[in-house]
Amino acid sequence: GRFQSSTLSEVDEFNASVGFDYQLYPYDIAGSIAHARMLAQQGIIKKSDAEKIVRGLQKIYKNIQKGDFEWDLHKEDVHLNIEAKLTELIGEVGGKLHTARSRNDQVATDIRLYCRDQVSRLAQVLLEYQRALLEQAEKHIDTLLPGYTHLQRAQPISLAHHLMAYYEMALRDLARLVDSFSRINTLPLGSGALAGTTFPIDRNLVAKELGFSSLAHNSLDAVSDRDFVIETLANLSLLMMHLSRLAEEWILWTSQEFQFIQLPEAYCTGSSMMPQKINPDVLELIRGKTGRVYGALQTLLTLMKGLPLTYNKDMQEDKEGCIDTVETLSICLKLLISMLPKMKLNKARMYHAAGRAYSNATDLADYLAKKGLPFREAHEVVGQLVAKGIAQAKDLQELSLAEMQEVSSLIEQDVYEVLKLESVVNVRNSYGGTGTEQVKKQIKLARRLLET
Ligand code: ARG
Repeated sequence: GRFQSSTLSEVDEFNASVGFDYQLYPYDIAGSIAHARMLAQQGIIKKSDAEKIVRGLQKIYKNIQKGDFEWDLHKEDVHLNIEAKLTELIGEVGGKLHTARSRNDQVATDIRLYCRDQVSRLAQVLLEYQRALLEQAEKHIDTLLPGYTHLQRAQPISLAHHLMAYYEMALRDLARLVDSFSRINTLPLGSGALAGTTFPIDRNLVAKELGFSSLAHNSLDAVSDRDFVIETLANLSLLMMHLSRLAEEWILWTSQEFQFIQLPEAYCTGSSMMPQKINPDVLELIRGKTGRVYGALQTLLTLMKGLPLTYNKDMQEDKEGCIDTVETLSICLKLLISMLPKMKLNKARMYHAAGRAYSNATDLADYLAKKGLPFREAHEVVGQLVAKGIAQAKDLQELSLAEMQEVSSLIEQDVYEVLKLESVVNVRNSYGGTGTEQVKKQIKLARRLLET
């Protein structure tokens, strides 16, 4: 009514968000149905009108699901497309749906419903991922490999312990998602454009119908808050960072230099030029897609930082990154879950690597310290033994007792038992260590947690 000329076609295109926000249709329709029912309940519109509206919306939902719906760019977004279709279906009574509502509280409600749904869905997938990690850990309590610091062989560990490290990360990621839920699950609808409404609405009724656990208390905040999207993107960025580290390790492990694992071919591709190649594409893409997930977080943080209250059109840009991130996480997790049990391990090579590079040197120092030598001195003594070993191209356990005793008279025959690879791993039974008892304990705890 206010406009005397129509918008430029390019402006329509530029302005439109329906190209991506159409994906919010189930939430938009659910929100509208709850709103229409509340309007009738409160006597704001007639019951019979509300019934027509609800039936119309249900029909639209079915049609969209069937693929029988044409999204129109010139109707800007998911909200206007659905409302226009409603009026087309049931006549001008369709126009009553938007009583006491603005697209500002409507879109905020839609994205909250979307985030709520997707966060719960991803939490389920994350549980499956934890289960997949745990299953492999259970199988590899006795599989040994080198543990690294600075990417230099440091101390041997069990593969179970290594996998359980990723389990722990996933556990924190899950806890973050669960914790964010109550902040996501609060209802903005009923806040109007920014300042509330003159109609005697009942927001509690809408909240109840839509399963929101609380109401947004300030209408200005309600329509302009996107913290929950940012929080979700931040939580998913952390999760993605963990997946990326796992992917990176496996990429290293498949290299000719490591040869610890072989990836199932179904997750690799060849090279167009080099016939011998098998490239770990899936893992590389998981690592690579971490960039776009961080990008979405960065985009939204930047987008929001300068906005005056309340709604600004800039905020329409919140959706693409959010939807893209959710989809990226979903596919990355699913691929890892299906890949995990199919990995082929080169146990012999891992075992061999675990025992090399003086990875038992700390154990020899501990041995001397337990015999009363201050640890700093013990460290020095073992350093000399390592130098001796390097000079003769021998590992510590390959030095004779006499050779060792030249450096320290505290060393006795029992040292050879201490230096064995299995001993080195199994004795690290401090809480949370790689010792078999500890690893079994952590696995048991995790099992119990996953089954409850
Ligand atoms: N498509 C818009 C968005 O995603 C919906 C809200 C529009 N509100 C407005 N006052 N123009 O943000």
